[in-house]
Parts: sequence; structure tokens; C-alpha cells
Amino acid sequence: MKDVRTGSEGQCQRKRVFIRTYGCQMNVYDSDRMADVLRPLGYALADTPEQADLVVLNTCHIREHASEKVYSELGRLRDAKAERRAEGGDLTIAVAGCVAQAEGEEIVKRQPAVDIVVGPQAYHRLPELLAEAARKSALLRAGKRLPGAGVLDTEFPAESKFDHLPSPQGVRAGSAFLSIQEGCDKFCTFCVVPYTRGAEYSRPVSAVLAEARQLVEAGAIELTLLGQNVNAYHGEAPDGSTWSLARLIRELAEIEGVARLRYTTSHPRDMDDDLIRAHGDVPQLMPYLHLPVQSGSDRILEAMNRRHGRDLFLGIVDRLRGVRPDLALSSDFIVGFPGESDADFDDTMRLIDQVGFASAFSFKYSRRPGTPGAALQDQVPESVKSARLAALQALLGRQAREFNTSKVGATVPVLFAEAGRKPGQIIGKTPWLQSVYAEGNPRLIGRIVDVRLIEGHPNSLAGEIVTGPYEVAA
Ligand code: SAH
Ligand code: SF4
Ligand code: F3S
Repeated sequence: MKDVRTGSEGQCQRKRVFIRTYGCQMNVYDSDRMADVLRPLGYALADTPEQADLVVLNTCHIREHASEKVYSELGRLRDAKAERRAEGGDLTIAVAGCVAQAEGEEIVKRQPAVDIVVGPQAYHRLPELLAEAARKSALLRAGKRLPGAGVLDTEFPAESKFDHLPSPQGVRAGSAFLSIQEGCDKFCTFCVVPYTRGAEYSRPVSAVLAEARQLVEAGAIELTLLGQNVNAYHGEAPDGSTWSLARLIRELAEIEGVARLRYTTSHPRDMDDDLIRAHGDVPQLMPYLHLPVQSGSDRILEAMNRRHGRDLFLGIVDRLRGVRPDLALSSDFIVGFPGESDADFDDTMRLIDQVGFASAFSFKYSRRPGTPGAALQDQVPESVKSARLAALQALLGRQAREFNTSKVGATVPVLFAEAGRKPGQIIGKTPWLQSVYAEGNPRLIGRIVDVRLIEGHPNSLAGEIVTGPYEVAA
């Protein structure tokens, strides 16, 4: 159907929404859900903010830099809105996600052009919020004085948003995210997530299985289970028992058509024996695990309230490699947590050396208002953080390159996900979540194809498709 934005009377008038996603995969999943909620209201997806009647910023609060980006984007949107209004049109601006939850009303105070602030637990209420915003805007335009601008919903409603959101529509190129757990009760002293996403909550088993089946019917062959603490999953099963993540994974692997399973993000404390065993005996569970450790120093891990020491992490790595020797490990690191000495940092470098990571994310500690870490004495100077981050990233970069080059020469199954930048090129993922680019027909996107790896780089590999009878480039 052709979209008609400003059609003459009698024509069907469609609206467009542009959603910009910051932060983690939970936000990517939520952005899709918001698109699903808005679709029945007549909103099609726009590719740019310029084409949109409604712009939603799905924000991240994890580090200061992430939050500040939102305000600069809001400044640009305010200007766009003013231009639209001068031309007799309008632009509705909504802020969703973790900044919305953390800052609430402050956002409208700082940027009055914002129409809606909606926290991550209230997305199913978007239709009401939009109607309310439209009503307010009409009153303001009619010259009425209102007690405050903006429409706000940052409640943690008693009912789960999952029960009220429509079923997911989006399967991209054979791969889909499935949110199974949300929130966090761990309260690491650096982290805002327990405040922005609320208490830990696991979706019931039946809801997860039903969504998984729908996704598979819609073309998914890879499911990535999501949660802020996904391996703390403890969902209620129909018979009243509680299922762990391992139990759930075993059941999902039984669904016909599920070729690959992944989960993220996990916490070392919740790597139970059964989950470790599943890495050895569930063939669909990919040999890749993102297991954030943050630091290799027991003293710092304790100050971070991570509730485990260095040995627990190293022990888990050994056990995982015992059942799945080719497991690729990835992690998150924070440098410059308050009180981190050179010796503590060396402990982190030694841990990295000992484990050998296939990939990693690393950050300078960012002081987040309201978290216990922000109040600690002994904050580390910025220059020290920068030097430590550079050293850490150099080591992790070397390890990533070594890991990638170690696979050169192998023929591995690659799930192709998108077209590459160069014409004729397609990009996909190996079981170890490495990006591979190869010459290939876009018809292969969404399929798993054998690829011979020919060149290893720090962040990707080049490969050649091992051509089967029906995979001849057209
Ligand atoms: N639940 C996951 C992490 C979620 S946040 C876990 O427990 O591991 C993603 C990553 O952001 C964290 O692993 C951490 O490395 C980083 N991070 C969180 N808060 C931060 C802060 N205040 N400063 C710097 N990095 C931070
Ligand atoms: Fe944040 Fe810690 Fe919870 Fe992870 S476990 S989300 S780092 S508080
Ligand atoms: Fe950011 Fe919220 Fe995810 S703070 S990392 S978007 S849970």
C-alpha cells in the first residue's frame, strides 16, 4: 500500500514514526515492540526524523556520555519542530527508555519541546499517551494555559507490559531477539539499571515459548534470549514449577526450525551447573558467551558489589571450556572504578591474559548520580582512566585479532544477516559471533551457509561461500 502523508480529503492519511535506539539489546527489542504498538494506530516506520510525524528516542542512561547524547538530539528535534509548526505542520517528540525512567519530568523542564516521557515499563500505554499529548497540544494552540507541558508515564505498573504488548512482528534476516527477563536486583555500586528497569522479573514459560514459536513461524532460525540478568531467569511453568534458563534453553532447542540459540547478558553468579552443562549438550546453543567480569581485582569486585571474586569467574571459564572447548568468551570491563590502584588494574590485565577473550566491551568508569559508587572517595583521575583503558583495549584488541585469525582456513556455518557496503557483498555471523563478509547473492540473507574463512581482522573475517548446488550466484 502506498503511504499518503498529506493526502487530500477522503484519502487514507498515514502517519510515520522514527525510532532512534540507544543502549543495549533490550532497547532494540523494546523499540520493535513500540513500533508494533503504534502500527495499529496507523504509524508506518520512517527512515529519517525528517520524514516522521512522531520521533521516539529510546534512550540509555548507563554512562554520562550516553545520557548527554539524548539532550543534543533533543535540541535538533526542537528546531525541527519549530520549523514544522511555522509551516503549519507538527512534530511529536517522545523520550522513552532509561533516561526517561531516571529523569522523568526533568527532561521536559530541560527541553520543553518534548511531548511525551515514557519509561520502559509503560510502552503498552503509548496510544493513550499520544492521545493525551495531542489533546494538550490542541489546547495550547488554542491559547489555553496549562499547568505543565509534556505527558509523563514512568510508573512501574503492577501488570506486566508483556501482557499488553502485541505479538512481535519483526524478524530480521532469520534472527530475532526474545526478551525473557527484565530488571535487576543486584545493585552493583556503579550501575543505574536496578533504578531504571526496576526489580528482576521473569516472563512465564508459556509466554516465552509462545513468542518463540511465533518468531520461528515468522522466519527466525536464530533466537537470542535477552535480559539484564538473563541467567537469573526463573520463570513460572504451567505446572507451577520454576524453570531455570538451562531448562528453558533445552525446551526451546526442541522447537523445529530453531538452529541457533544465544543469550545475553549473564552474570557470573548465576552460571549454574545445568547452564554450564547445556553448553556441552545442546547443539543449538552457540559456542559464544558474553559474561561480564568488570575487574580482575578481588578488592574492586567487592567494592563494586559484584558478589563474586576473581576465582569464581576463572572457575566458570574452566568448567565451560571443559564441556565446550571451542567456546568463545566475551566480557565487559570497567577501568577507573573509585579506589582502583595500579595493582588492581594489573590484576585485571592478568585475568585477561589468563582467559583470552574473543571480544570485549570496555569502559571508563562513569559516575552516575544516585548510585553508591558516585559517593565514593578516591575517584580516579580522568587521565589515569584514559591510560588504563588504552592499555586494556590494546590487549583485548590483540586477543580479538588472534581469535579471528585462529579460524582462518576453517569452513564454518555463517548466518547471513545483511548486505555489505560493497556491491555483491553480504555479511553474516559465525557460531562464535564473528562478523564475516563474503561475496554472495542477497538471497542468502536469513540463511545459514558454509563459508571458508580466508582472512582475519580485528573485528571481522573475510570468507568465501562454499557453493552448494542451489547457492550459485544469480
Ligand atoms: N547486567 C550486566 C550489565 C549491564 S550494563 C552485568 O551485570 O554484567 C552493561 C555494561 O555497562 C556493564 O557490564 C558495565 O561494564 C558497563 N557499565 C555499567 N555502568 C557503568 C558505569 N557507571 N560506568 C562505566 N561502565 C558502566
Ligand atoms: Fe547493573 Fe550489576 Fe545489575 Fe548488571 S548485575 S544490570 S551491572 S546492577
Ligand atoms: Fe542502557 Fe537501559 Fe540498557 S541504561 S544499557 S538501555 S538497560
